[in-house]
Amino acid sequence: MADPSFREATRVVRAGLPEAEQGSAFLGGPTFAAPFHFRGDPASSDYVYGRYGNPTWTAYQSALGELEGGDVVLFSSGMAAAAAVLLPRLRPGDVLVAPADCYMGVRSLIRRHLAERGVEARLVPTADPGFAAAIEGASLVWLESPSNPGLDVCDLRQLIDAAHAAGAPVAVDNTFATPLGQRPLELGADFSMASASKYLSGHADIVLGYVAARDPAEAERLVDWRIHAGAIPGPFEVWLAHRSLATLDMRVARACATASALAERLAARDDLGNVRYPGLESDPAHELAARQMSRFGSIVCFTLESGERAEHFLASCRLVNEATSFGGVHTSAERRARWGGDDIAEGFVRLSVGCEDPADVITDVEQALDQAASR
Ligand SMILES: Cc1ncc(COP(=O)(O)O)c(C=O)c1O
Repeated sequence: MADPSFREATRVVRAGLPEAEQGSAFLGGPTFAAPFHFRGDPASSDYVYGRYGNPTWTAYQSALGELEGGDVVLFSSGMAAAAAVLLPRLRPGDVLVAPADCYMGVRSLIRRHLAERGVEARLVPTADPGFAAAIEGASLVWLESPSNPGLDVCDLRQLIDAAHAAGAPVAVDNTFATPLGQRPLELGADFSMASASKYLSGHADIVLGYVAARDPAEAERLVDWRIHAGAIPGPFEVWLAHRSLATLDMRVARACATASALAERLAARDDLGNVRYPGLESDPAHELAARQMSRFGSIVCFTLESGERAEHFLASCRLVNEATSFGGVHTSAERRARWGGDDIAEGFVRLSVGCEDPADVITDVEQALDQAASR
């Protein structure tokens, strides 16, 4: 474990690395194994069979655990991680309180696999002051802040306290913020879940997820679910993600700085509506985000006059890739309403700033907006 007194940028470089041993690699390669050599008592080894455990997972889990401040269990995707928190806990008659504007995949999981089986789902918008009141009688509270894609922010500590007072555990989807921007377990949450397909791995080439649990017994339950659901990550993906963790601070710092500069420029334009970036002082979420987050992220959202204009903007970008997802080194954007299901305008664009030269990103976005405006 990296010395906890080291600063964050140092800890991401060192997290989860083994003790230095003469002749060993800094981060040894992935272990590929279905069965491991194993005789006798099943309790005598951590590594018996590849669905139960793998040393490559152990190293990355301990690295993420250092950053999140809890026990981490990896899953094959962010959705597998979300499902591992939601599905085994909730039974017919239970009440789940969740944001009406959280990630659409999680909402669809709630609708199709929980609500249809008798779990009462109370969906309340993230920024709705009535969220705390909806918690009364909850069996589990799911939060996401900032929300995807609207970038609204809720007061995590306040809602976590309200949930605990009502006897409900709380899980926070921390994908947008990353553990460098926000630590839900420190704010009192029971679970911090994230898709590591985004910033954590950061190169747009891996699908992976994890849950960090405050209580080691809860982490054991998640491991038990993973064993039985078989929602396991591949060792190579996990190794790549661990390797990418070393640059997380640099990637996020660069992307956040560019996003902030871009948001300022976009907010000054008169052809865009509703430019959202929690780092903008004028943003409705700014005050809360500044209290709760240590970085404002690298996603900027804005709305063009129509879906057609937004499509024209995307087609006019030379650098910005049109793609779903976010948090990678490549700047990308999409017209989010193409998916349906979110309460957003047809011309709403979610733009994820990457690590290219800031001037190139800003120039490209502005020239594409100019082209869209001139149509
Ligand atoms: C906020 C959020 N949570 C969870 C997920 C699901 O993650 P994955 O795609 O790794 O399954 C996503 C994916 O976009 C997301 O944006």
